[in-house]
Amino acid sequence: MNILVTGGAGFIGTHTLIELYKAGHTAVVVDNLSNSNPVSLSRVEEIIGNQVSIPFYKVDIRDREGLEKVFASHRFDACIHFAGLKAVGESVEKPWEYYENNIGGTLVLVDVMRKHGCKNIIFSSSATIYGDPVEIPITENCPKGQCTNPYGWTKSMLEQVLMDIQKADPEWNVVLLRYFNPVGAHPSGRIGENPNGIPNNLMPYITQVAVGKRKELGVFGNDYPTPDGTGVRDYIHVVDLANAHVAALKCFANALAQGHNTTFIYNVGTGNGYSVLDMVKAFVRVNGVDVPYSIKPRRAGDIATCYCDPSKAKAELGWEARYGIDDMVRDSWNWQRQNPNGFSE
Ligand code: NAD
Ligand code: UFG
Repeated sequence: MNILVTGGAGFIGTHTLIELYKAGHTAVVVDNLSNSNPVSLSRVEEIIGNQVSIPFYKVDIRDREGLEKVFASHRFDACIHFAGLKAVGESVEKPWEYYENNIGGTLVLVDVMRKHGCKNIIFSSSATIYGDPVEIPITENCPKGQCTNPYGWTKSMLEQVLMDIQKADPEWNVVLLRYFNPVGAHPSGRIGENPNGIPNNLMPYITQVAVGKRKELGVFGNDYPTPDGTGVRDYIHVVDLANAHVAALKCFANALAQGHNTTFIYNVGTGNGYSVLDMVKAFVRVNGVDVPYSIKPRRAGDIATCYCDPSKAKAELGWEARYGIDDMVRDSWNWQRQNPNGFSE
């Protein structure tokens, strides 16, 4: 298939491009580079090899004319839609910017797609839409909950928008992938997560402490009702997550074969819950580096425990995570160690 990958220069997008090409697909990338560096795409091409050149357009998905030009030059079988702003804290400070970029951008994208007859979309959703989940492990039947920040609401609202569009026009197939906590990096160490400023998320904070950029990790709370008192999450290696997108492309072929289009929803996690201290200890053990930490107050909006039941994706897509916690901490460190300043060469 030929796939439009929005946000393809970012963390999950770059890893997905590699797995798409490995599976025999081709891709075109649209990204406004607001949170990425084009060097990441050169590195993707280097990893894929065979002198592959991935067409790249520096276009904002809110720019209708820009998108029209891309669609005029290429025919797409599907779109994997990663483009969006994702910093939880920033979304609280700048809600308008988050709603306008994530929701406004997706509305323009979907409109241009349908005008050009491309009605297959995979959307990056998030476990955050479950709020404080009413069941653990979380299945796809768990009701959606109250999000604690505007970023989370953009995901929850966009799920609804896409489901409504699919219902009104059954030529659409919509796949909602609810990611749990992506970490790790490509085993080559050539691409990985490259946050701007102070990392919001646990793993990039740990790697920046390990590489000496930050003094110590603050562990947000040790009085949660969890085995060691720190927050428990379902960390998933980004290469596994990337492969979930390749597997999800099957939904489109299956729908075509069955003559019935719909909205597909999958949790994408490992099904294992690890605490903050589990992650720190694994990182130190596997990589042999020190990660000083101290216990801090709880972070507003955090929940105690969040991990999924990933069996639906296994049963229907034949996808399951292959990488474990040791691979995740090894590959995160391998990337950070080789690229202490991210993609700034
Ligand atoms: P990322 O910031 O590395 O990648 C997103 C890319 O989208 C960036 O390259 C950015 O420049 C681009 N972008 C943003 N707004 C754009 C716009 N208007 N037009 C064109 N390009 C635009 O983030 P990521 O971690 O790779 O996340 C990819 C997607 O997955 C996002 O939608 C994110 O919300 C979602 N997600 C991420 C996580 C996570 O923890 N990383 C968890 C759940 C869901
Ligand atoms: N944590 C710390 N110290 C830090 C950072 C995080 O102790 O410096 C703790 C948090 O309190 C939490 C755990 O590490 O217990 C994981 O925190 P992250 O910020 O890495 O991840 P979250 O689970 O809070 O949220 C992430 C993404 C969201 C996404 C969600 C579910 O940031 O965008 O996973 O996919 F919605």
